[in-house]
Amino acid sequence: MSTNAEQYRSKLTAPEQIAAQIQPGWTCCSDIALSIPNRIYSALADRVRRDGLTGVTMHTLLDTRLLPCYDEQLKGMLTGVSWFSGAGARSAVNGGYADVMPCYYRDISGLLTDHVEIDAYCAVVSPMDKHGYFSTCNGSASSAMLRKAGRIYLEVNENMPRALSSPMIHISQVTALCENHTELPVLPSPKLDEISTTIGNLIAAEIPDGATLQLGIGAIPDAVGMALKSKRNLGIHTEMLTDSMVELLECGAVNNSRKPIHTGRTVATFALGSRRMYDYIDDNPSIEMLPVEYVNNPEIIAQHPCMMSINAALEVDFFGQVCAESVGTRHVSGTGGQADYVRGAIQSKGGKSFIAFPSTAKNDTISKIRPFLTPGAIVTTSKNDVDHIVTEYGIAKLRGRTLSQRTRALIAVAHPKFREELTFAAKKQNIII
Ligand code: COA
Repeated sequence: MSTNAEQYRSKLTAPEQIAAQIQPGWTCCSDIALSIPNRIYSALADRVRRDGLTGVTMHTLLDTRLLPCYDEQLKGMLTGVSWFSGAGARSAVNGGYADVMPCYYRDISGLLTDHVEIDAYCAVVSPMDKHGYFSTCNGSASSAMLRKAGRIYLEVNENMPRALSSPMIHISQVTALCENHTELPVLPSPKLDEISTTIGNLIAAEIPDGATLQLGIGAIPDAVGMALKSKRNLGIHTEMLTDSMVELLECGAVNNSRKPIHTGRTVATFALGSRRMYDYIDDNPSIEMLPVEYVNNPEIIAQHPCMMSINAALEVDFFGQVCAESVGTRHVSGTGGQADYVRGAIQSKGGKSFIAFPSTAKNDTISKIRPFLTPGAIVTTSKNDVDHIVTEYGIAKLRGRTLSQRTRALIAVAHPKFREELTFAAKKQNIII
């Protein structure tokens, strides 16, 4: 039997050779953000341009660079299916040449297993270890994709952190691999302006020492993280590992000592941030990157007392229906883990969920608190799950409140210039009693 090193050498090829193996009618699947193999996919794009390859479907999650299936110049040749959209998928979906898969993030592994045939799993991985294993770095849906895939194509990148608890792939499972030691995508640090800092401080005041945190995507969850540096004994059980969490770990505010499960460890399902964060994850036994069906399971989340979930949104109506996925009919992103963490936090003893956003959009011309959601807007968090809504004007507690009480609380945290018209609309709807 050949050694791991021999197998590696025999499977090592050029990205163009991997792209050449992909056949019309195939479904290719990649996991989230850092896992997307851009070199293999750019070779695939070349093949589409050169040979007119068509009929390949690509399933993606949080695309961070332009993928061929979302490239307008290749529209009609490849089909992209976005399970959570980055900028490329967003444009392609809104342009009418890519599709979306409605889903909770926690369900993606099960949906792939039950409903999607996967011909090829394509992924960036860290270099092979002495035992012949590559780390996927992300937990996410990688295990389900690996189980389902007919072929496994890897792009080995020495910049990919080796996350010790993430799903591992052995060289014997691999169909072919290439090397591409390019810089990983980084998320620019969000601009912490006065509004996000104010909101961050409001939420931080609600978070006791010893709480466990989930912070979502965007400037406001990051501002909350920055406002928690003076807390003690915090824990992290989150979907996305963020830079602000690494700051909290490094300054000692987070030590995970009060978590009843995974005590002493940070749990996440994927990472996207700075190079500093990737270095922090690399070979770090205290970071667990576990499958999303476990990490985002509301019952697991709820096992943490004082679970605090902080996410952003685009608008909310008087009922408390939260839209975080579209501006009217215009697609922005997916549900991600927002609904998973809202449910987990409200079921946790002493837990709270905060959905936070600036009170207005587009230079104060639009109130994000509205009598009705904009026609076409997608409900991400239901009125029956919503807990706290936060703007720079304060915190509106909605859970356990009537429609009339919710409406008053929401108007009180709306931008002052919209309060009169919101009150007028509420009275016209007969919902303030
Ligand atoms: N009406 C019109 N436009 C609006 C708007 C509104 N009510 N609210 C926001 N916008 C615009 C903003 O002006 C901005 O436009 P620009 O890109 O032209 O500047 C754009 O929509 C994005 O808004 P912003 O407030 O900057 O978003 P963000 O970066 O804070 O992200 C979400 C907010 C909701 C898109 C993001 O949190 C997300 O993707 N959520 C998904 C669900 C989730 O929470 N998952 C869990 C974490 S992964």
